[in-house]
Amino acid sequence: MKVLHVCSEAYPLVKTGGLADVTAALPLAQCDLGMDAQILLPAYPGVRQMLPNVQTAIPIGDPMGFGEARLIRGRMPDSGVPVWLVDCPPLFKREGGPYADRAGVEWPDNAQRFALLGYAAALVAEAGAIVGWQPEVVHAHDWQAALAPAYLSFWQNRRCGTVFTIHNIQYQGRFAHPLLEVLRLPPHSFNLYGLELYGDLSFLKAGVYYSAKLTTVSPTYSQEIQTPAFGNGLEGLLDSREADLTAILNGVDYRLWDPGRDPWIVRQYGAENLENKAVNKTALQEELGLELRVGAPLFCLVGRFVEQKGYDLVLGALGQILECGGQLVALGTEDDPRLVEAFRGAAAAHPGRVVLAVGFNEPLTHRVLAGSDIFLAPSRFEPCGMAQMYGQRYGTLPIVRRTGGLVDTVTDLSDRENGTGFIFDWIESEDLGACIRRAVGLREDHVAWERARKRAMARDFGWENTARRYRDLYLSVTNRA
Ligand code: GLC
Repeated sequence: MKVLHVCSEAYPLVKTGGLADVTAALPLAQCDLGMDAQILLPAYPGVRQMLPNVQTAIPIGDPMGFGEARLIRGRMPDSGVPVWLVDCPPLFKREGGPYADRAGVEWPDNAQRFALLGYAAALVAEAGAIVGWQPEVVHAHDWQAALAPAYLSFWQNRRCGTVFTIHNIQYQGRFAHPLLEVLRLPPHSFNLYGLELYGDLSFLKAGVYYSAKLTTVSPTYSQEIQTPAFGNGLEGLLDSREADLTAILNGVDYRLWDPGRDPWIVRQYGAENLENKAVNKTALQEELGLELRVGAPLFCLVGRFVEQKGYDLVLGALGQILECGGQLVALGTEDDPRLVEAFRGAAAAHPGRVVLAVGFNEPLTHRVLAGSDIFLAPSRFEPCGMAQMYGQRYGTLPIVRRTGGLVDTVTDLSDRENGTGFIFDWIESEDLGACIRRAVGLREDHVAWERARKRAMARDFGWENTARRYRDLYLSVTNRA
């Protein structure tokens, strides 16, 4: 089974969030199953630097009118999974992030940049642009890749099956409709039955409309996005495509996320030597300038500072954390400067108790998860969420809001036999605060806490099963079925 994963990020080449973990781990897990999974993504400068020994450059013309594009072949640095880069320097060779410049302003030509990604994928599937390799399935991830199935549909490709995965429906890739022609999309596609959404063109809608099968990354989120509160205008279409929509929960790559062999933490540990986790806690307190108190409940946030994540609720509940003698580490990228500013204020007001670490820092993320006691995910919505699964493996019990993949991956400790974390209901600091008090209360019962930790560490979110479920889905969209 040959499958081409089309995406805008993949760890370790480029990562802004959980998407990159999935687009790296899933193809690898599929290769482990004996499938031929390959990855296609843009040749951002940082990515090119990480793939020094690239071979073959295959010209694919100038589809977007920005300059000649080509495909470059390489392999993922650690896993060796084959990767193709879409190289078009005028569109991708620039300093800054994959979607925005250093100041956070989105690139003005994102429509062309990611249309080219989809177009290149469709070319590979259509014309066998890559000599000797043609995918049976194109699997596109999120809006940046969503035009791949659309082009394949317009070109009436019947040889290649299409699957589209929604990792986050809030990011849609919406652009003004005059771009239609520039992006080589046929006029008839600008339609309710097509990629038109409220007078704009929507990449995400194109993916949802033109793909043979749709998936999203947790069962609860798959239900949520069929309602107006979560569907971002696509709930009707998703509801009508319910028969083609499957929920496949993300997995965890335990090659990277296992405290027993994590090279970035200070002392490796497992359920049998949890005292070593405490060594990581002290080291983290020292590294970040927190008071060296091993008994203090240490809370952490890791992720992007954006409204979705609900970090503002944590600021509102900070009093609860401090009252119980707790400490807080907030680590993340500065997507919303106002939110970061508010955390900076909290850190300045409570030195040694609250620290803020801004920026993308993968090794520090591992150390924070290993050194903390409790991981906070008060998200307003969360398609899957990865860190609450990582946290469980690290014995760092999660407090999560009852939404999306968070509720599918955490069992509340009101169930003393099976619980692995804490769930609260409302998007309110008071409710989060009450949950924090509940967690701190349980932590005083050392036996119960240790049992919960061990249970959390034993939970298995491995990829193998997940990779199989995708393979079964692929079979349903190829001629093999
Ligand atoms: C997006 C979602 C997150 C999910 C990840 C991987 O980043 O916001 O919830 O875990 O994609 O699917």
